[in-house]
Amino acid sequence: MREIRLATPAEIDAVIGIAPAGRERQEAIAEWVQAGQCHVLWQDGMAAGYTAFTRSFFRSAFIEMLVVSPLTRRQGIGRTLVEHCIGLVPADEKLWTSTNESNTPMRALLPQLGFVYTGQFAGLDEGDPERIYLRWSGLPD
Ligand SMILES: CC(C)(COP(=O)(O)OP(=O)(O)OC[C@H]1O[C@@H](n2cnc3c(N)ncnc32)[C@H](O)[C@@H]1OP(=O)(O)O)[C@@H](O)C(=O)NCCC(=O)NCCS
Repeated sequence: MREIRLATPAEIDAVIGIAPAGRERQEAIAEWVQAGQCHVLWQDGMAAGYTAFTRSFFRSAFIEMLVVSPLTRRQGIGRTLVEHCIGLVPADEKLWTSTNESNTPMRALLPQLGFVYTGQFAGLDEGDPERIYLRWSGLPD
């Protein structure tokens, strides 16, 4: 059985345990949870994936992070979490996300869910540009 809900402070360790996370990521997870921005997919009682759904991209809706447990990848959990975020945004509002050029799974998944590549910038991760994607009903066909 699957359910998605906002993580509570008591669940921070469970979210951190979803995938290997360095100190910076652990701190980010704690901040997202405290801010009510960390949505967790539970599968049969196990935290299997999370997404940080924020407004940190020029104050627009932004999927800032998406992580699925290495134990449960390729079962549709990433897709389900992105669809969950899409459901949180009114159809006429912009939803942004981004991923590294090297991230094959995300580059395959995002266009399937209506995200359009809008450009990229360098300098965040050395030698691996960040690609920006937008999902918005106002985009030209
Ligand atoms: C990216 C990530 C969240 C995908 O989660 P997932 O639950 O495994 O993805 P899904 O099972 O929902 O896959 C949906 C589609 O994405 C694509 N995809 C997923 N993993 C893929 C892979 N390893 N290679 C190629 N395409 C892939 C496929 O099109 C897939 O559909 P299909 O299985 O029907 O072919 C997961 O790989 C992950 O946590 N990666 C590490 C963290 C990360 O890179 N996060 C994104 C940066 S913010």
